[in-house]
Amino acid sequence: MNVHVFAPGRVNLIGEHTDYTGGLVMPMAIDRYTEIEGTRGGARVQLTSFDEPDPVDLPLTVDDPQHAEPAWAKYVAGVVAEMAPAEGFVGRVSTDIPIGAGLSSSHALQVAVALALGHQGSAIDIAQLTQRAENRSSGVPTGIMDQLAIAAGVKGHALVIDCGDLTIEPVPVPDDLEVVVLFVAHRTLVGSAYADRVAECRAVEQLIGPLRDATPEQARALEDPVLRMRALHVTTENQRVRDFADALRNGDLVSAGRLMVEGHESLRLLYDTSTPVMNQAVTELCATPGVYGARMTGGGFGGCVVALTEPGALARGWVVQAVDGARAVVS
Ligand code: GLA
Repeated sequence: MNVHVFAPGRVNLIGEHTDYTGGLVMPMAIDRYTEIEGTRGGARVQLTSFDEPDPVDLPLTVDDPQHAEPAWAKYVAGVVAEMAPAEGFVGRVSTDIPIGAGLSSSHALQVAVALALGHQGSAIDIAQLTQRAENRSSGVPTGIMDQLAIAAGVKGHALVIDCGDLTIEPVPVPDDLEVVVLFVAHRTLVGSAYADRVAECRAVEQLIGPLRDATPEQARALEDPVLRMRALHVTTENQRVRDFADALRNGDLVSAGRLMVEGHESLRLLYDTSTPVMNQAVTELCATPGVYGARMTGGGFGGCVVALTEPGALARGWVVQAVDGARAVVS
């Protein structure tokens, strides 16, 4: 059986560092893909990649994905460990999602592997499986936003995702708008302060209950200054997602851009996940005619910035289109 899988990358428009507290996010799947072509069968998962010198060769039962070799094998091993597939796969991986740039190349690979191995569940099922796979393979307690955006993308739409009850509301991206992604700096969340932020949110929740239900007023009343800042980011960011979705629905691109900049400032000042070079990139973009707003996108500490612009306003970066979620073509 021949299988050809396509899994898009994603860019998050707004709603950063809210998913792991069951908050609101608004990503879209983008027209850059990881593809796997190959054949199901046999008792091993064997993949080569155009971007990697060494192949992946795994048995169907994996206990310790984090230590699989070569390095990219751990992403595949996480999925194999979670799925325990009945049969193997032999194939080839290719991608035009920039690797290590914060556009979810590793999540796209994991969703693609799950589909290649014959995963049959819903978009939510596949997102939950690949989230567990990623947590096991990277050791970083990341949320579900990226996998869900990749699995459930809707052409021409960004998705308002409630990461608490996993409801998804597609919101059209207006035609008179360009979403532009600019790469700024390589990064990895492994060894970053990402896990610290997750722990800080858990500490806040011990004091005031679930952050998804908390208000900025409750955040401001926290005594600990660090926890206060973290909680203030999350609670105001959830509101920004609602306001941003309304702004897009109303075609109010000026307000949408302003909310993105406010979100970036919150990541910079309250959540402390930005860096000087990312801040500089956002400042420069916002000073460019035709740019409604810009912000760092994804986990932070580097990666890409995303800008909303009038068509043709920027001579650099990638104009991205919102696309449908991952799919497998079986022949
Ligand atoms: C990374 C994680 C996501 C999310 C973002 C921050 O992309 O994989 O789960 O937490 O960071 O919004």
